[in-house]
Amino acid sequence: MSQSHSPRFRPSRRHFLQIGLAVPAAGMLPRAAGAAAPNSKLRTAHIGVGGMGRADLNAISSHSHVEVAALCDVDAQRLEQAHAQHPNAKVFRDYRELFEKMSGAVDGVVVSTPDHTHAPAAMMALQHDKPVYCQKPLTHAVHEARRLREVALAKNLVTQMGIQVHSSAPYRRAVVMIQEGAIGPVSHVYAWSNKNWGYDGDAPTNVQPAPETLAWDLWLGTAAKRDYVPSAYHPGSWRKLIDFGTGTLGDMGVHIFDTPYAALALTAPNWAMTTCRPPTHVGHPERNVVQYEFPGTKYTTDKMIWTWYDGSFAPPKVSDLDLPSGWDLGSLQLPGQGALFVGQTGVMLLPHVGEPVLLPEKTFAETKRPDIGGGNHYHQWVDACMGEGTTSAGFDYAGPLTESLLLGVVANRFPDTKLMWDAVELRVTNLEAANQLLKKEYRDGFVVRGL
Ligand SMILES: NC(=O)c1ccc[n+]([C@@H]2O[C@H](COP(=O)([O-])OP(=O)(O)OC[C@H]3O[C@@H](n4cnc5c(N)ncnc54)[C@H](O)[C@@H]3O)[C@@H](O)[C@H]2O)c1
Repeated sequence: MSQSHSPRFRPSRRHFLQIGLAVPAAGMLPRAAGAAAPNSKLRTAHIGVGGMGRADLNAISSHSHVEVAALCDVDAQRLEQAHAQHPNAKVFRDYRELFEKMSGAVDGVVVSTPDHTHAPAAMMALQHDKPVYCQKPLTHAVHEARRLREVALAKNLVTQMGIQVHSSAPYRRAVVMIQEGAIGPVSHVYAWSNKNWGYDGDAPTNVQPAPETLAWDLWLGTAAKRDYVPSAYHPGSWRKLIDFGTGTLGDMGVHIFDTPYAALALTAPNWAMTTCRPPTHVGHPERNVVQYEFPGTKYTTDKMIWTWYDGSFAPPKVSDLDLPSGWDLGSLQLPGQGALFVGQTGVMLLPHVGEPVLLPEKTFAETKRPDIGGGNHYHQWVDACMGEGTTSAGFDYAGPLTESLLLGVVANRFPDTKLMWDAVELRVTNLEAANQLLKKEYRDGFVVRGL
């Protein structure tokens, strides 16, 4: 454990002013003042250390002020691999036990589990007054995103969602170009991913005993009990299934929607509507077209439409896009993943991940690009925990972004129905059945205070 230990784990008053939030009451301001001592350490706990969790662990522990204090994974093999890299860390299979035993010896928590476990693990960390780095999408259900944001804000804790591209130079450049009016007010954003994180089949049936190395009941966590089926859930395949993941829209859409959401200063949609196959109640659709209408902002026309395509619907055909007539976009080829912003004076194509391209080419031949560098999204969180700077995708930003996206995931259970959205009340105003899907029932033993 760290010897000298005086980091600040809370954002400053200036941070609240900068991001336009109400300044917290005096009692909630940072408890410790002054910069962290140069040799102090942030003691981290990592929940989920395989797959992306491994990348998160490597990226966060590469910060010179991080000391990995605890590792938790329900898969003993993955846990062992991480432990071999960080032999001084304590190991756990159950995050509830981690908090019970290590709360006083941990300063920040990283959550890199499947989506259905984000909210319970992250909320438990917040309830223990820990800053959190949580993978995307922030949560599995709309209500969970609202609650994480509210609790993080009320406790004034440093948070960050794992959308690392948000801090990259091309995405930051795209945001500045849009906000400086490069293509005028934006009326429509088309976005797409040709990945298929859906599943149109029946419930998995090839039941087998779970491997001894996998704590299956802990993997299920808050979700209803069911038998283990190899390759159907763990690792990775859970993202296709409605009880655990959020399909391609939640998985890739959160990265690709992030830039329009930030650049256009979007808030909550007026409505969302999905075109896809009828619901199976098992998997997310293998291909979707999801449309949202957002209220206008200073960077958009009166209303802004966001249209998402995934699976074999992506990329859309250029000829199907509603572009102003007379614009010569040459022989534009859309990449497999990306976004196209339609402004009043031009178009911006933003490949995922790549440099923004302004079109028509002739119009923008002389346009200079802002000279903007990228940042390290992971180290931003560590630095903010240590009292230096702020995070760029804290739960104050990630919460509303995730709520908006997840409304589209709910909409794919009611194809061709416009779900009218009241974000203040957090309810669909025209379809009570949709409201039942905004909040989840947690299994006994996994209920977390605050959710
Ligand atoms: N930001 C990105 O670019 C990016 C890329 C890939 C995945 N992700 C996100 O990372 C998360 C994990 O995705 P993945 O592809 O690595 O999945 P995965 O199934 O490969 O890995 C999840 C890991 O969490 C562990 N785990 C599962 N339940 C747990 C629990 N209750 N407690 C502790 N550990 C548990 C698993 O054993 C496994 O090691 C998802 O939220 C996903 O959306 C983000």
